[in-house]
Amino acid sequence: MIKKLTLSALTALTFTAGGAFAAGGAGHVEDFQFSFEGPFGTYDQMQLQRGLKVYTEVCSSCHGLKYVPLRALEGDGGVGWSEAQVRAYAEQTFEIYDEELEDFRPARPVDHFPANTGAGAPDLSLMAKARAGFHGPYGLGLNQLFKGMGGAEYIASLLTGYTGEEKEEAGTILYENKAFPGGWISMAPPLYGEDVDFDDGHSNDLHHEAEDLAAFLMWAAEPKLTARKEAGFIGVLFLAVLSVLLYLTNKRIWAPIKRKDTA
Ligand code: HEC
Repeated sequence: MIKKLTLSALTALTFTAGGAFAAGGAGHVEDFQFSFEGPFGTYDQMQLQRGLKVYTEVCSSCHGLKYVPLRALEGDGGVGWSEAQVRAYAEQTFEIYDEELEDFRPARPVDHFPANTGAGAPDLSLMAKARAGFHGPYGLGLNQLFKGMGGAEYIASLLTGYTGEEKEEAGTILYENKAFPGGWISMAPPLYGEDVDFDDGHSNDLHHEAEDLAAFLMWAAEPKLTARKEAGFIGVLFLAVLSVLLYLTNKRIWAPIKRKDTA
């Protein structure tokens, strides 16, 4: 009886918690398919270059990436650019305040992306890891196990999640967004589709721009993801070989004793 009661109380509690979460407006996050998902997933450098372009032309007017050094863009671990390309990008895109010169100068690869410029706009360096797209069910975290944390999915869903509704609250205009927790965000829709032209001729509709940008922000937050997965794979391989060797060693050590038993 008591057991039954506790169980039903527990279920009721879980459901109320679930209900409250939904009523509080946990956003809806779409499950985008990214190349870097799964144990062998890697970044698609062409996609990173496209995402960087969207960030540079649209988001950087408000959002900084202050923890990301510009030189990280170079080479295999970056977006695949040469040193000269990174230098040209840095010089032509950003001006940095140099305390020694007491003046602004063009950015160099050793500088970081500039910090925020827009009021109230958060830095995006770690945003893809600071947000989770998937939760539950009921706090078990199974969705995260199967779909991943979903930070990149959350960002892509946020950018494609505007409904077009607006309201004014205490002098601020809020925009309705299906992915944003609470449903109303103070960032005006930054992307509408066809905001930038991609050099590789890739589609620039809203969905693709958002996806590429989210992949770029995932790279910004976790640039060593591919190297980390490779190291993990080698580690597992090493352990597998070690297990076989230990098994054979064990067999050999016990062989004389076991033989005596059967004799
Ligand atoms: C006009 C300035 C402006 C531009 C341009 C802009 N944002 Fe924002 N962004 C904001 C502000 C302000 C907020 C804070 C909104 C809030 O918390 O209500 C924000 C918040 C965010 C958040 C955090 C949402 C959260 O979960 O807290 C993300 C992610 C984001 N922006 C991504 C982008 C991306 C990607 C772009 C470029 C495609 C972009 N923004 C362009 C002003 C801007």
